[in-house]
Amino acid sequence: MDDSKKPEVHKGLVGVYVDDSKVSKIVQETNSLTYRGYAVQDLAANCKFEEVAFLMWNGELPTKQELADFEKKERSLRKIDDSLVDVLKKLRPDAHPMDVLRTAISFIGAQDPKWSDESKGANLDKSINMMAKLPTIVAAWSRIREGKEPIPPRDDLSYSENFFNMTAGKVPEPAIISAFDKTMILYAEHSFNVSTFTARTITSSLSDIYSAVTGAIGSLKGRLHGGANEAVLDVINEIGEPEKAKAWLDDALAKKKTIMGFGHRVYKNGDSRVPTLKGAFNEVSKLRGGEKIGQIMDILEEGMLEKKNIKPNVDFPTAGLYHLMGIEKDLYTPLFVMARITGWTAHVMEQLEGNKLIRPLCTYSGEPQRPVVPMDQRGTKATPAIKPAAPKAP
Ligand code: COA
Repeated sequence: MDDSKKPEVHKGLVGVYVDDSKVSKIVQETNSLTYRGYAVQDLAANCKFEEVAFLMWNGELPTKQELADFEKKERSLRKIDDSLVDVLKKLRPDAHPMDVLRTAISFIGAQDPKWSDESKGANLDKSINMMAKLPTIVAAWSRIREGKEPIPPRDDLSYSENFFNMTAGKVPEPAIISAFDKTMILYAEHSFNVSTFTARTITSSLSDIYSAVTGAIGSLKGRLHGGANEAVLDVINEIGEPEKAKAWLDDALAKKKTIMGFGHRVYKNGDSRVPTLKGAFNEVSKLRGGEKIGQIMDILEEGMLEKKNIKPNVDFPTAGLYHLMGIEKDLYTPLFVMARITGWTAHVMEQLEGNKLIRPLCTYSGEPQRPVVPMDQRGTKATPAIKPAAPKAP
């Protein structure tokens, strides 16, 4: 085919609409984000995370009674099986917590005799079950890897309070819980991002919801997606002092480095979630002495705007927030999973309601068609070998 006849390739699916959704809407022009029609900043200001989870799955905010029933159910499902705790104890203590979560969800799926029931009711139950158990798994792992026993979940605490209690053994000040809850709400859903699209793609072959979530966790782990929040803290730590921030940024940009926590495929003029998170950061900063980190972040933000006209995304303030809350860096992306489980599973159910196998096309630029030469006629020219990886320094 001559090049003029080649179909146009949309690398990275940039600008391609692949389906319709009722779960959330990003309006690029106004940098706004709505879940089921509600602006995220409104939800963050007025709701707790459990209300937003209910909204995600049911399309409406709960009444008082519906919320009470929902919370009762979620709280009753928090405990994890001893068999899962045993699996966690068998993993390497330095395994990445995202790999641990991926393994845990896969394990829960393999243990569920109803894994293949794809009715809406069954998938709703599985979704609440995964939501309820994820904080228990994250917290259990944070302790098991340090040789400590997990702290069991409590059913008298909210989703966010219970998470802190299971990791640190105590519930922090209400302002910390409120800020954490806001991060959960703002991480809950974001349309056809790569992990959600992964979940929908897996679902489109009529695979089960656990497989979709397991794949989504693998996708979220990447540095260009959820893993960016961890990478942001690396930058803050590398800079160390506010006086060094400007020079660090100038040098990084001169070397054409990607600055983690900045830029977005969809938002080109600022991420709608950032203002709420900055407000939360300021509140937590007052309690936990975050002045220095705040200054470093401000300098990076001003510099990126001035030099590249690129604004921060959700992962930028969140990394600072989680750090001030005393959460270990490699748990930041797992926290994202604790929230995004609601959006992923809402999309899985929506995909099933109007499923069409996701199967795009690609152009081809490999070898032209050629005959297979029998082994005894292939001569002696060896195929270039792939070099084995160099051994890692201990
Ligand atoms: N730091 C420096 N430059 C950046 C940048 C960043 N964080 N994000 C985008 N740019 C620049 C690119 O270098 C490119 O410049 P060029 O046109 O001169 O080559 C331009 O902006 C367009 O970027 P591109 O990577 O093509 O946009 P994209 O839509 O493919 O990428 C991201 C979006 C999110 C992958 C990208 O902004 C990024 O890598 N950000 C850092 C990782 C991150 O924070 N991810 C979390 C997203 S919520």
